[in-house]
Amino acid sequence: MSESDEPRFISHHDSHAAATYTRLLLSKKTPNSSDQKKMRTEAQAQPNIALIKYWGKRDIERNLPAVSSLSVTLDSLWTRMSVEFSADLAADELVVNTAVSEEMLPRVSECLDLVAGSDRPRAMVTSECNFPIAAGLASSASAFAALVVAASEAAGIERDELSLARLAGAASGSAARSLFGGFVELQANEENIDVSTIADADTWPLTVVIAITAPGAKPVGSGEAMNRSAKSSPFYSSWVQQQAADLATAREAVLSKDFGKLATVSEHNCLKMHSVMWASRPPIVYWNSATLACMEAVRQLQNDGHAVFFTIDAGPQLKAVCLPDETDLVRSTLDACSGVERTMVSGLGAGARLLEGK
Ligand code: PMV
Repeated sequence: MSESDEPRFISHHDSHAAATYTRLLLSKKTPNSSDQKKMRTEAQAQPNIALIKYWGKRDIERNLPAVSSLSVTLDSLWTRMSVEFSADLAADELVVNTAVSEEMLPRVSECLDLVAGSDRPRAMVTSECNFPIAAGLASSASAFAALVVAASEAAGIERDELSLARLAGAASGSAARSLFGGFVELQANEENIDVSTIADADTWPLTVVIAITAPGAKPVGSGEAMNRSAKSSPFYSSWVQQQAADLATAREAVLSKDFGKLATVSEHNCLKMHSVMWASRPPIVYWNSATLACMEAVRQLQNDGHAVFFTIDAGPQLKAVCLPDETDLVRSTLDACSGVERTMVSGLGAGARLLEGK
């Protein structure tokens, strides 16, 4: 990677960013003068579901992952974020689905500092999300991916997708992948991450059926949980060591559209990640009895010859990945599992983007 590919983490010491920002203030002006418009920009991103999981950090301070990962970006679940910088605001404000949110505000402010410099004007951030938040459905991935796109635009700073992905990844490791669509590989390099689409959504249109088994927020956040695993799980080092091989197998499976191969390696990788969690001290167990009922139902479908596999993240929801023809059967099977509150279906979709005309 050349030096020019390096991310520019902008701080008030960064004179280029400061100059850009001054230009922005001069060109877009302050909100109260007569000929001036507020700079409100809106972006949308979809969550991504990892098939080869990220669990553990190489560098906690910079939020760099210890392992590479591979995910699919969804299309029908989304987060929309709008950002408006204003010299009139004394502090950042965040509204999530029409309610003021104090809880997420510090992470949002930190992310805005990285995007636009800590000497930026304060921002009004509004977020709308069409699926449950903080329940292991990657709501932070879509939120931070949308946030960096909207905030960069609002700050008048042009960035390519990789730079945006690195900024999103600094806020939430998995968010870096939502900048890209389809099948996305994130390489955890020593100095920084590299992220790219290895196959577009329409080259292999898989379906993801999500079984919601408990809609509430998870008991332990993924950041805290993975640090606990790294410190205390006896399986953590072999998890890290085996990741490159799993990733290579999954990449081959995607590129050759080998569903069976992708199914086997994805389930194995997911169960290894959860074994690392279970063996942490204190243990981290995100599953509930409905999660297990769904796993059993997926196993039964596989035994009957259907093309479906499961994956589970830092929460009790089960995601079943299947060929499009199997969608109705997979959905009705999961709906019938004891403890499943509802199911959602999504195809694969595009990366984060600006919503024009907002
Ligand atoms: O991006 P974070 O810090 O929310 O961590 C995500 C961790 C998993 O969802 C469990 C795995 C992954 O790769 O998305």
